Amino acid sequence: MKDAVVSQPAREIYRRLLGYAKPYWKVFSISIVGMLIFAATEPLFAAMMKPLLDGSFVERDIEVVRLMPFLLLGLFLIRGLAGFIDSYCLKWVGRRVVADLRQEMFEQLLRSPTRYYDTHGSGQILAKLTYNVEGVANATTNALTILVRDGFTALALLAYMLYLDLALAMIFLLIGPAMVFSIKYATRRFRRYSRRIQERVGELTHTAQQVIEGHRVVKAFGSEAQEARRFARVNEKTRSLQMKMVATESISVPLVQLISALAIALIVYLSTLQGLREDMTVGTFMSFVVAMGLLLSPIKRLTAINAPIQRGIVAAASLFELLDGERERDTGTRTLERAVGRIEYRGVGHTYDPSKGPVLHGIDLTIGAGETVALVGRSGSGKTTIASLLPRFYDASVGEILIDGIEVRELTLKSLRAQLSLVSQDVVLFNDTVANNIAYGREAGASLAELERVAEAAHALEFIRALPQGLETRIGDRGVLLSGGQRQRLAIARAMLKDAPILVLDEATSALDTEAERHIQAALDSLMRHRTTLIIAHRLSTIEKADRIVALQDGRIVEQGSHRELLARDGYYARLYRMQFVDGPLDDPAAA
Ligand SMILES: Nc1ncnc2c1ncn2[C@@H]1O[C@H](COP(=O)(O)OP(=O)(O)O)[C@@H](O)[C@H]1O
Ligand SMILES: [Mg+2]
Repeated sequence: MKDAVVSQPAREIYRRLLGYAKPYWKVFSISIVGMLIFAATEPLFAAMMKPLLDGSFVERDIEVVRLMPFLLLGLFLIRGLAGFIDSYCLKWVGRRVVADLRQEMFEQLLRSPTRYYDTHGSGQILAKLTYNVEGVANATTNALTILVRDGFTALALLAYMLYLDLALAMIFLLIGPAMVFSIKYATRRFRRYSRRIQERVGELTHTAQQVIEGHRVVKAFGSEAQEARRFARVNEKTRSLQMKMVATESISVPLVQLISALAIALIVYLSTLQGLREDMTVGTFMSFVVAMGLLLSPIKRLTAINAPIQRGIVAAASLFELLDGERERDTGTRTLERAVGRIEYRGVGHTYDPSKGPVLHGIDLTIGAGETVALVGRSGSGKTTIASLLPRFYDASVGEILIDGIEVRELTLKSLRAQLSLVSQDVVLFNDTVANNIAYGREAGASLAELERVAEAAHALEFIRALPQGLETRIGDRGVLLSGGQRQRLAIARAMLKDAPILVLDEATSALDTEAERHIQAALDSLMRHRTTLIIAHRLSTIEKADRIVALQDGRIVEQGSHRELLARDGYYARLYRMQFVDGPLDDPAAA
């Protein structure tokens, strides 16, 4: 996890978080006022000791005795009400902030370049959206409650103690720094552990997710024990880190308590000496001791607050890492209504990872409007990369790509991508109805007639009609209820409905057997009609009809021409072609 952000000053992170609460400052202020009222009731309890003891037990003042129970009840009533209002209001603001952050993060994800997804596992991204946002919620609510409520309580009590007896209070204050020191020590460790724990939890999610998604593979290879061991390792690492955190947490609380107890013992001892003096009444003494006792809990909570705050800061930093992440550069201003569909690659080179060097070199390729060009080559030769540069999933590192003579970077992303339909091996279906999956991306949806027309053309209508609710049937998460061929045909129907002038088929039929592929070929043929098509297929039999075949080797174009021409030339393509009939598909899709 590249969360170098932890080095960001905590104050910056606080300020930024507070910025999220700003729109809700009214409710936030009510909450703060509630906390102040709540805090103010605390010294009043201590103060009540004085008249109670001096007035009733010592001087037997019947009036004071009668008044006390009502005062006590009234005080509790105010305290309860203030406590309810402050915590409710603060949590309200907290949940708003969480919702706002989540929305902003999600929208940032939508605008993140493909690179972000390449470098961050989905488990890690999901952990940010769930676990880390909750961590922030704790910082902005629980921690703030303690900070303000207990902070003010402590201040109010201290002020009262100073008022009661300056000398005793001063002694009490002298012991303060010892407490602060022990708190500081704990803080540093918390930050370190809590960052590492979050990384681990991301890893934990990631490890589990791999198995959840690949459970069939795990079963088929009988690697349950291996996976269990792998998980156990991550699990154990997380546990041991968490224990270190627990240890720090558990040690710091009794430490602070011990110091406080020491303080109280000392004060009690000193005041017994002082109590011999005339000016200190029983009531004053009791009020002081009670105030001191009351001071203990808020101080205890204030010292323990560092853990949630630090956790919150680390979590917030990781959210900000996402929020401050790169965005897809959408600086183009030109738009295309509907492209004719002429594509041109001019000296295009691409590098994903500078340490690994370029994967494409000097690609020059022109595809006329309505032409079908097939890319062939071994796995890793750069076919998908060439296709990915067209919708600008990545920006070409070198050279330029033009559609209808316009550089793709000059177009707005929206306009550029509207010109393209992409059908790949891995069909992504959303957890929605068949109809909505076909009309995916269309704000207005599609009419029944349109849906049926494209489903028919994609040879999908027949099986859709056989589904329990036809087009309105919900497909489960990731479309598990459909066969590979059916999913593929839905993807084709989707592309038909989008009706973009340029079509990119990347191993669109690789997941299918030859029989199903033949079935879909007809659907593809009608999809490709009148469109500029870039087709990548590992079965050379499916691309023989292409107008032109471009053979790639290690990111370079080594040959191009029609199937017939290339066979006649007896070069690289001819070799691939012959090999396929001996060894089967040249490109193992599982390795791609
Ligand atoms: N997102 C990526 N990040 C880094 N390297 C990548 C990425 N995608 C592909 N590559 C690398 O680029 C090269 C070409 O890959 P690709 O275009 O997928 O080839 P093909 O589609 O022909 O199998 C390979 O060496 C591959 O490892
Ligand atoms: Mg590929």
